[in-house]
Amino acid sequence: MSKFIISWVMTVLLLLGKFNSSAQNKGAIFLPKAKFITGDNQIWSNASFNDESWKEIETGKVWQNQSYANYHGYAWYRIHVRIPSSLKNNALWKDSLRIFLAHVNDVDDTYLNGVKIGHIGGFPDEQGGYVSKWPAIRDYHLSISHPAIRWDEENIIAIRVYDGGGTGGIFMGKPYIDMVEKMDGISVSMSNQTLKYNSNNSVNATVVIENKFNTTVPGSIEYVITNAAEHKKILEKKLFIRLNPFEKYEIPIQLPSTEGIQFGYSYVSEESSRELKQDIVVPYLLTPSTSKKPRINTPALTGVKPGSPFIYLIPVSGIRPMLYTVKNLPTGLALNQNTGVISGVIKQAGDYTILINATNAAGKAQKQFTIKVGNTLALTPPMGWNSWNCWGLSVSDEKVRSSAKAMIDKGLVNHGWSYINIDDGWEAAERLKDGTITANEKFPDMKKLGDWLHGNGLRFGIYTSPGEKTCGGYLGSLGHELQDATTYASWGVDYLKHDWCSYSDVVKNQDTSIANYIKPYTVMQNALAKQNRDIYYSLCQYGMKNVSAWGPSVNAQSWRTTGDIEDTWESLKRIGFSQADLYKYAKPGGWNDPDMMIVGMVGWGENLHPTRLNPYEQYTHVSLWSLLSAPLLIGCDLSKLDQFTLNLLTNDAVIAINQDSLGKQAQQIIKNESHQVWVKELADGSKAIGIFNMSSNYQDFTIQWTDLGLKNKQLVTDVWRQQSKGIIEDRYTSAIPPHGVKLIRVLNK
Ligand code: GAL
Repeated sequence: MSKFIISWVMTVLLLLGKFNSSAQNKGAIFLPKAKFITGDNQIWSNASFNDESWKEIETGKVWQNQSYANYHGYAWYRIHVRIPSSLKNNALWKDSLRIFLAHVNDVDDTYLNGVKIGHIGGFPDEQGGYVSKWPAIRDYHLSISHPAIRWDEENIIAIRVYDGGGTGGIFMGKPYIDMVEKMDGISVSMSNQTLKYNSNNSVNATVVIENKFNTTVPGSIEYVITNAAEHKKILEKKLFIRLNPFEKYEIPIQLPSTEGIQFGYSYVSEESSRELKQDIVVPYLLTPSTSKKPRINTPALTGVKPGSPFIYLIPVSGIRPMLYTVKNLPTGLALNQNTGVISGVIKQAGDYTILINATNAAGKAQKQFTIKVGNTLALTPPMGWNSWNCWGLSVSDEKVRSSAKAMIDKGLVNHGWSYINIDDGWEAAERLKDGTITANEKFPDMKKLGDWLHGNGLRFGIYTSPGEKTCGGYLGSLGHELQDATTYASWGVDYLKHDWCSYSDVVKNQDTSIANYIKPYTVMQNALAKQNRDIYYSLCQYGMKNVSAWGPSVNAQSWRTTGDIEDTWESLKRIGFSQADLYKYAKPGGWNDPDMMIVGMVGWGENLHPTRLNPYEQYTHVSLWSLLSAPLLIGCDLSKLDQFTLNLLTNDAVIAINQDSLGKQAQQIIKNESHQVWVKELADGSKAIGIFNMSSNYQDFTIQWTDLGLKNKQLVTDVWRQQSKGIIEDRYTSAIPPHGVKLIRVLNK
């Protein structure tokens, strides 16, 4: 299996591992090695089975990275471990033993001395069939009186594993045995969902301290609210809290809703003195509230091929009902005056400039918009949603529809968001007899789903791999490319993400020249070109062989430039700020793709959590993706969109930078330890400038206009606040939060 696949899996899983597993006690017993065999035999679960002849393998590392490079299917691990009674005797809470196996790729049955103690995922021979659950942490808890535990003797932990493709085995963390601590069940959080913004620039928040275990936990919380922007302490408090079993203790607080407000806490357990500590940045809204009046938020243009179905929901913000009219609509297109959806087919190539009018009870708006009928699609980067960062392989028709509905109901469509893309996990286990690909039971009718999306003016995206299997172990398109492209087209698909994954098995022993890396994408592109509709072609192969340079040659509209992103500052920084050299490749019709956005509720599976990026980092994320002209694909559950995230994703001035018709990527002009400055040329002659604070402190940054190649006098707009700052001479100074950004737009004066 290729390094690339491993590294993306590692990245995603590291994230999940870090998020869920707790620190170990001093007495924890690590389990770095196991006996291993491929194949399947229930006898191997028995404690008395003699596994002397089995090979040794490391846990924490997929077997493909050890001596089993090409093996997929069933395998067993047997871990021999003495569990000393001192472990429980020395524990403060003598309640449960924890057997932590990190992640198992993809399915496991776990036995302790022949007794089954855990099962996650679905084996092919189970009712319901194969279900990959590699993102789930295997953290099995057993009461200390559980009869399977042999205290002070050798124990056998036997793990039956099934790898359905990609990689297999116990991985992504160090397995260990330990006692469960009361503090493992404590969490302190301030959910964005509970924030209530008031008109007087304040926000009501609730800090929740939760005890997830069936035991009482005494402790204390000390918290400090500061205004980091002004270096002021606002409030300091200490509370003693006795949390009953499963109790949630809530601290309601009212805070200023401005940049720089931080809630720092330290929660200490009275019994173990263990401490939980964090600085929470209180979310603040920068996007001004949407005007009641109509505002037409289209980019300047869009592209479609002659004869292909065209569907476009005119993005207009303002109160409803809204009435739409269009002047100079080309033959073949029709407008729905109430929904603002333009649809139809234009046969003749050419540029068609239409005049859009939108009227509501508060006023009117007008804007020109050009439909370029020709060979170039995606004249501006796509904007939409993808299921992966939230639902992972658990995506379903219902989940897709709920995010699509939210995209409409919460008004995201009024700001240009339009694609609804299903990532991996939709494919059935087997093709039909004639080789046709079908969806699994989670997607009862793909064509109906496509029709429903189109009926609402949205666009429909899907996912496959050029290999035999996708990264999640589902069916890929190898050898069925034309058949699959034809099936997608019959469902009304508008966007295809084509993810390398098990294609590594194909190039494995062959020539690894660039031609071999381009080949699978040429095959699929030829298949897409035969369809009677435009299908945006998104390459996903993590940037191998400088894909930005040859992506256009396979008619791709975008190409992933890195491995998978995760919702941490380290990941955002590594991926987002490493795109500078790719500047020259971005242009209308072809975009560098630094991966999908990590805002809102994410989780790569059923258990979603709020992004671990703080608000400063989220403003950086959206600003940087806009400057980079990156595809904007929201990766969260839109049905759970909170006010902060909605506000973050509906700033038309920021989106306009991403959707600018010149289609340039920003250039990195200043790069040092403390800050970076990126400058993007825009179609109207102005420039968007992002000043990023890369340090961990609030700092003032000054940029000289001339250092950026600009004239001495600049007309400056604060983009997030949509506020003109007037003409500023020579230099510009701004206080920027840690990991935060100042995004301005400037025009020579
Ligand atoms: C990865 C890809 C992710 C997601 C996943 C699905 O290779 O980078 O974005 O598509 O596969 O299994």
